[in-house]
Amino acid sequence: MPSTACPRSVDLRNKRTLVTGSTSGMGYAIARALAEAGAEVHLHGRSADGVRSALEQLRHECPSSVAHGHAYELADSDQVAALLRAVPDVDILVNNTGPTRSRSVLDIDPDEWQRYLNTYVTAGMLLGRAYLPKMSARGWGRVLYGAGVTCSFSPGDTDVAATMTAWLTSKAAMLGLARSLAEVAAGTGVTVNAFIPGPTHTEESFLAQASLPPGESFHDFEERFFAGQGMSSLLGRFIEPRELASAVVLLLSPEASAITGAVLRIDGGIIRTAV
Ligand SMILES: NC(=O)c1ccc[n+]([C@@H]2O[C@H](COP(=O)([O-])OP(=O)(O)OC[C@H]3O[C@@H](n4cnc5c(N)ncnc54)[C@H](OP(=O)(O)O)[C@@H]3O)[C@@H](O)[C@H]2O)c1
Repeated sequence: MPSTACPRSVDLRNKRTLVTGSTSGMGYAIARALAEAGAEVHLHGRSADGVRSALEQLRHECPSSVAHGHAYELADSDQVAALLRAVPDVDILVNNTGPTRSRSVLDIDPDEWQRYLNTYVTAGMLLGRAYLPKMSARGWGRVLYGAGVTCSFSPGDTDVAATMTAWLTSKAAMLGLARSLAEVAAGTGVTVNAFIPGPTHTEESFLAQASLPPGESFHDFEERFFAGQGMSSLLGRFIEPRELASAVVLLLSPEASAITGAVLRIDGGIIRTAV
């Protein structure tokens, strides 16, 4: 009897996942999409209250999920070590954490600069190198790093890129980290990739890019934002966190086994090159 081709949805049952920075925004959306695909999910943020409320929300929205929560400050390597003791092994690691806006390179003090590098680059390295050998030994794993586009296009704030040096530097370093770990993982069945989100409809993006002026609706703000100087989005609107999460979950799925050492843009077409 001929086999029938049936549409499949992503199946991540029996996969343990950790998504850093998943108490809100795109991290929460990714964690929720992983839970919907059947994965066991470890949520993470800095504050215990934030973690508790994200966990409650996830259990409410996805009642069959197996979810845990962890509060650790990733700028501090002792707390990264504590997170690793709490979650010693996973099949899927998504590095999504972190603050966005940073001060101008002329004003930032060295401690603050170091906090960005610690939160994004050092924590990403420590988590990646802790989980990678265990994933490799099992012959399957997924490591993903969230980067970001150069946000130089906000209307009325044309020097955003110049004022976000610590953020941009950290995010660029994560692309190098992801590619390097992909090389280390060659031939093991573990893939390591990065993704570049465009402007996404999260609380952080409003804090970073603009707050709504009094009397302006979100719709008006969105129109003004995407009509702004230098803005080149093909999508012409904010990306919804669930849209971003759907693309990320595909990259984390068994079906994406041939994608490694890559950078996936989920940016609404802002970067105007095909490759
Ligand atoms: N939204 C966008 O348009 C956009 C575009 C490109 C890139 N990005 C990047 O994507 C990532 C997520 O953005 P988002 O908009 O979804 O942000 P968000 O809603 O503010 O979420 C940030 C998450 O990171 C956690 N976090 C922040 N600093 C941390 C630290 N030092 N240690 C541990 N956890 C920390 C927060 O936890 P608590 O608040 O509970 O502490 C929260 O869970 C960020 O790195 C951001 O720069 C965002």
